Amino acid sequence: MARYNYDLPSDLIEKVRAKGPMVVATLNEKGGVGKTTLTFQICVHLAEAGLKVLAVDLDPQGNLTKTTLRYGELQHDRVFSDVDIDRANSMTIFSNANERVKPVPVSDNLSLNTGNTNLVALMGIQHDLLLELDEYLARQTEFDVMIIDCPPTPGNHVTAAAMAADYVLSPANADEYSSDAIKNVVKTITRFKRKYNPGLNLLGVILNDVDNSSKIKKDYVELMRGEGADPDEFYFGIRDKIFETRLGKRVAFQEAQTVGMPITRYQRGNAADEMYSFLQELLTRLSKEEA
Ligand SMILES: Nc1ncnc2c1ncn2[C@@H]1O[C@H](COP(=O)(O)OP(=O)(O)O)[C@@H](O)[C@H]1O
Ligand SMILES: [Mg+2]
Repeated sequence: MARYNYDLPSDLIEKVRAKGPMVVATLNEKGGVGKTTLTFQICVHLAEAGLKVLAVDLDPQGNLTKTTLRYGELQHDRVFSDVDIDRANSMTIFSNANERVKPVPVSDNLSLNTGNTNLVALMGIQHDLLLELDEYLARQTEFDVMIIDCPPTPGNHVTAAAMAADYVLSPANADEYSSDAIKNVVKTITRFKRKYNPGLNLLGVILNDVDNSSKIKKDYVELMRGEGADPDEFYFGIRDKIFETRLGKRVAFQEAQTVGMPITRYQRGNAADEMYSFLQELLTRLSKEEA
């Protein structure tokens, strides 16, 4: 049964607002697991629920930028000039011109730092410049939640995001490679906590694109939820970090992205129900003192 009301609970929204500003990095070294899709959906839903949200595109592919600008154009009648898009460029954050970087507003509550192929140059940048993202986000005090969409490749983009973030959110598929990738995410967080950012925590792993008809996928869901695992096994150790909600393989997620819409407004049904349930869990975790 599809839900009819997708309003996010206002008490959770208020708790997150009271606790913020907070920075979430969407990380997983595997491509195509839903990082950009989920980052976009989280941003538009939280913004429409009243939080001030900044989306930061750190991926040279610029997919989050494309979808978010489309959301501004189609849902909020915004017109973006090349100057506004350029001034918001995430790559400029890592230069000595970073004082003039300004997020581009895409709706009353959502702003964006844009990504494009320039971000490839981050690969070759001096390591100490990577801290500029942390300093830049610390200056963006008007936002409650800031979300950084990372490319899958390990390296400077991920380093900059992990130095700036409070939380890592990791979308994963239920398969062998994703299972390995989550182990790497946890290793990365442990290393960053020790070396650069003691405040960094894993917010959670969201199983995405789960095909319930596949036996192998079901087995991986069980494995990654630590069901029946021994206490010394990796997935037993992080079992409270796996979100209860699983997002199914649903074409509506893709369609909503294509038209730049929050899924709960795009179409009532399973995809919207699942996203709503995930967002409630996400807000609950974000509103707690520690994740
Ligand atoms: N739950 C889902 N069901 C169906 N398609 C999905 C789902 N999640 C993501 N996709 C699609 O998979 C592709 C890759 O997703 P994307 O968010 O770009 O991954 P990433 O940013 O991790 O590389 C996109 O075409 C997206 O629309
Ligand atoms: Mg992506």
